[in-house]
Amino acid sequence: MWIFIVTGVLMVLGYWVLSRCYSYWTRKEVPQLKPFFIFGNFWPIMSRKLSPPEFIEKLYNSTNLRYIGIYQSLRPYLLIRDPELIKQITVKDFDHFLDHVGFVDPEADRLFGRNLFSLKGMKWREMRSTLSPAFTSNKMKYMFSLMSQNGQQFVNHFLEKSEDVIEVEMKDVTSRFANDVIANTVFGFESDSLKEPNNVFYTMGKFATDLTNLRTIMVFLGYVILPKLLRFFKVAFFPKKMTNFFGRIIKENIDSREKYGVKRSDMIGLLLEARKNKHNDDDQTTLPDTGFATVEESEVGKNQKLRKYDITDEDITAQGLVFFFAGFESVSSLMCFMAYELGVNQEIQQKLRNEVDATNEKCDGKVTYEALTTMKYMDMVVSESLREYPNAIATDRICTKSYTIEPNTPDEKPVHLNKGDKIFIPVYAIQRDPQYYPEPERFDPERFNDENKNKIKPYTYSPFGSGPRNCIGSRFALMEIKLLFYNILSNFELIPIEKTQIPIRYSKKAINMAPEKGFWLGLQRRVK
Ligand code: HEM
Ligand SMILES: *[C@@H]1O[C@H](CO)[C@@H](O)[C@H](O)[C@H]1NC(C)=O
Repeated sequence: MWIFIVTGVLMVLGYWVLSRCYSYWTRKEVPQLKPFFIFGNFWPIMSRKLSPPEFIEKLYNSTNLRYIGIYQSLRPYLLIRDPELIKQITVKDFDHFLDHVGFVDPEADRLFGRNLFSLKGMKWREMRSTLSPAFTSNKMKYMFSLMSQNGQQFVNHFLEKSEDVIEVEMKDVTSRFANDVIANTVFGFESDSLKEPNNVFYTMGKFATDLTNLRTIMVFLGYVILPKLLRFFKVAFFPKKMTNFFGRIIKENIDSREKYGVKRSDMIGLLLEARKNKHNDDDQTTLPDTGFATVEESEVGKNQKLRKYDITDEDITAQGLVFFFAGFESVSSLMCFMAYELGVNQEIQQKLRNEVDATNEKCDGKVTYEALTTMKYMDMVVSESLREYPNAIATDRICTKSYTIEPNTPDEKPVHLNKGDKIFIPVYAIQRDPQYYPEPERFDPERFNDENKNKIKPYTYSPFGSGPRNCIGSRFALMEIKLLFYNILSNFELIPIEKTQIPIRYSKKAINMAPEKGFWLGLQRRVK
């Protein structure tokens, strides 16, 4: 008897809580997608019916409106479809949408919570303006020579092999490259992960960024479904063993530099300068920028007066870590998709190779920063890769100061957003909307030639996000990607092999954009 009453009461209560949660947008008179049980609109991804990018596209396709209310589990988000509105939120009225949502609690994960992506409000402003001088094109030029060593190391490894066609899983080798670049330019740690596959830096990094690892998935889903509970127990996103490791490397590195007065033009070097407030702002010179996709630094980043942050060793470690997390997976993943497209589109590869050869000749075999960044076709190919395969398939903002979206049509009502309301920007789907990019599935670098690139509708192309909270590392990423392909194409042809999955199908198991069967390609030595 009792059991029925209790069950009955619980069910009514549960029903009430759910309908209260799921009427969040309708109570604001905002149209919304119909939520399902406790999963909201994210069931297709939780049940692994759809891959993450397909899922984003499906959400986007579910309406023609400028925006629509959705629920990530119990959490309401406002999905923005309209480019003009994206501009309003991320740029014009940025002050109302300062922060990323971020699901790692600064209290739960001290190190991770302090990084640029997770920092909020004034703390973020100060840190951003402290870090941004380290990412200008001038600083990239310093770092270019460090990165070049890694590029050389990469091709040497394959040139030493005797096979005519070397079968490689691109994700494995580009991860190793991206790892060595970050180790070298950020942590001041030299490694050759192709030669020494199990070096400690690589092992740790791989472990850290393996999004298919069970612990990571559980913690990730946990934060989506029961954020309060996980926060209560201070469940750290990253295992202790790993954060301690990176912390130690940076600490030792800083100590030895300060002790022996070593100078090195890498990220730690730049952050140590920032600490002494000795950034030589030599950025007036006109160096070519890294490419079309580069995002501009806003006034927040450039504001020198904000730069009063006292950077501690722990801060440097936290930033080093975030550069690692933001810049390792994203860069290597983009490289794989680009390699795949070059492999299956031989004419495009040939055209790019011709440009590489011409540049090589101009530079007497030793490519410079200026020569690399001014290669036109290279930039078109990279830009198109970033359009078709934006690694950050969606980005977000959190409303930090109440805001009203004014109606645009007679059907719309004003949308009153409160502090804490969350915004969802479906980058992947916008960049594949046939309205903006005809035949979006087709890989066509000509979309970015001199004539066409200026016709791209503003805010329909944002692989690095937009506004003051955009990607701080866009220059770093573009330079790194171009450098690797320059090196590969100077020495090899990328060709499809039997194991190459054509066309690529996205994995439904990964929590981001990844292929089902890896990225297999052949490296065929060029005859010169
Ligand atoms: C192809 C490679 C990359 C892609 C596609 C990418 C994309 C993005 C996107 C979309 C955002 C969010 C922007 C927004 O919400 O408007 C972001 C933020 C960020 N990225 Fe990247 N990124 C890449 C490489 C890198 C690299 C190499 C670094 C560092 C060395 C980096 C560091 C960061 C940081 C620190 C943030 C947070 C910025 C803030 O909150 O102020 N990223 N990235
Ligand atoms: C979304 O709509 C476009 C055309 O409007 C279509 O080509 C695409 O396949 C749709 N995607 C999904 C996942 O439904």
